[in-house]
Amino acid sequence: MLDARPILFFDSGVGGLSILAPTRRAVPQAPIVYVADSAGFPYGVKDEAEIAGRVPALLGRLAERYAPRLIVIACNTASTIALAAVRYALDIPIVGTVPAIKPAAALSRTRTIGVLGTAATVRQAYVDDLAARFAADCHVIRHGSAALVTLAEAKLRGETVAPATVRDAVAPMLASPGADKLDTVALACTHFPLLADELALAFGPGVTFVDGGPGIARRVADLTRGQSFARTTPDVAVFTGAIGAGLEETLAKHGFGQCIPL
Ligand code: DGL
Repeated sequence: MLDARPILFFDSGVGGLSILAPTRRAVPQAPIVYVADSAGFPYGVKDEAEIAGRVPALLGRLAERYAPRLIVIACNTASTIALAAVRYALDIPIVGTVPAIKPAAALSRTRTIGVLGTAATVRQAYVDDLAARFAADCHVIRHGSAALVTLAEAKLRGETVAPATVRDAVAPMLASPGADKLDTVALACTHFPLLADELALAFGPGVTFVDGGPGIARRVADLTRGQSFARTTPDVAVFTGAIGAGLEETLAKHGFGQCIPL
């Protein structure tokens, strides 16, 4: 029998679209519900207790409403803080998005890597642990930026992003001691791959970027191997608060037939 249960993608905003794109290529027939917690946006400037309380409760509600086969927390901030609690609370597979420090360290020749995320993500013990396990011989430069999150949302609403604003946002990372050797940067916020062109300009040609998207697509494909998929309704994007002007058009381009409030 064909299975209409969706895969639910969750982020504070539209950042999760950077994770969704490779997953759609891996499992094109999978029905998707995309949830943007626009009422709680932005996560990166909030404290741990707020994210730890909000995300499992909201995902519990969403799991009841949409009965997904699998949830992808397409947000590094939510994953590094609340992944364990969500897995504990829900009886379906939960795929988290955590900073791509392992692939960054594997690629780096200079053994100097960057972790560019939100302020909340880059200070997590989860990141200390990934760095100790996979990049122990690397100099790891961390930088948290709320401005890049805002700029990525603006870009997807159709606004022009001035290269200088992106350059300013990453300037503290480039000014850190040892940053002249930086050759690989983990984009540890799902909003940031949406600014890939602007970031490439800001960092210059010697720096390669990695993010969690391809790994998550492989994981979703593995977890759903052998399952059937039936798309009985157009894919839907759900907003917990305001739906930013201009976003509906972008979401339509990403395959969402409708945008609705929760
Ligand atoms: N997209 C989110 C992340 O991956 C967080 C952006 C925000 O709400 O600050 O961390």
